[in-house]
Amino acid sequence: MSSRKFFVGGNWKMNGDKKSLGDLITTLNTASLNDETEVVCGAPTVYLDFARSNLDARMGVAAQNCYKVAKGAFTGEISPVMIKDCGVEWVILGHSERRHVFGESDELIGQKVAHALESGLGVIACIGEKLEEREAGTTEEVVYAQTQAIADNVKDWSKVVLAYEPVWAIGTGKTASPEQAQEVHEKLREWMRVNVSEAVADSVRIIYGGSVTGANCKELGSQNDVDGFLVGGASLKPEFVDIINALWTPHGFSLLIL
Ligand code: PGA
Repeated sequence: MSSRKFFVGGNWKMNGDKKSLGDLITTLNTASLNDETEVVCGAPTVYLDFARSNLDARMGVAAQNCYKVAKGAFTGEISPVMIKDCGVEWVILGHSERRHVFGESDELIGQKVAHALESGLGVIACIGEKLEEREAGTTEEVVYAQTQAIADNVKDWSKVVLAYEPVWAIGTGKTASPEQAQEVHEKLREWMRVNVSEAVADSVRIIYGGSVTGANCKELGSQNDVDGFLVGGASLKPEFVDIINALWTPHGFSLLIL
C-alpha cells in the first residue's frame, strides 16, 4: 500500500453560478467523505472567494490559472498573491485547455509553476498527449518533455501534484483504460526516479484526468501508480462524492473480510 495520500481535484472550468456552485458546495459539505482523501475544488476566478468562504475547511480550493509575476500591468490576469489573499491554497497550471485553446507554451507554464511555488501555492501541474501524438507513438516523448519543463522549475516537490490527462480523454467520455493510465503513470514515476530523485518518485502524487466518473473511478484508482484524479464534468455533479470515496472501504466491511 503506498503512503501517498489519495488526491481528488475537481475542475469546475468555466461553469456554474453562485446558485449552482452553492448547491454543489452544500452537497460536498454535508457528504460523508473519506478523510484519507485530499480534496481540492478548482473554481472560476470570480468565485474563488465565494468557494473558499463556503466550502468546508477540510476541502481545499484551487484557482484554474495564474500569471508568472506578483502584480503589474497585465490586464485580465491574476497572481498567486491574490489567490492566497482569498485564502486559496492551490492553482491548476498547464491544463490542456490552457495549452491548446489559449496557446500556453511549456516555457510559460514552467515560469508560472516556479512563481506559484515561490509564492507558497500548491500546484496541480497538468500534462498529456493529443490523440495524434498517441497514434504516432510519441506519448512518452510528449509527456516527458512537458514534465521536464515543469521539473526544471520545481525545488520543493511536496507542493506539486502531477496530473496526467490525455487530451483525447478530456470531456470526450473516452476514458483511458486502467491499463493505459497505469502504463503512463508508471513510466512517469520512473522518469522522476531517473531525472529528479528516488524520494520524489516515491512520494509525488500522479493523478489521472479525462472522463473520470463514478462508474470508472474504482478501477482506475486501484492502479498502483494512480494516486487520484482531476475531474472535470463529473466534479459538477453529486457523483463527485463517489469519486472522492472511490477507494473507501468502510471499517465494518474490512473487518468482515479479514
Ligand atoms: P473531464 O475533464 O473529467 O470532463 O474529462 C477533466 C479535466 O479537464 O481536468
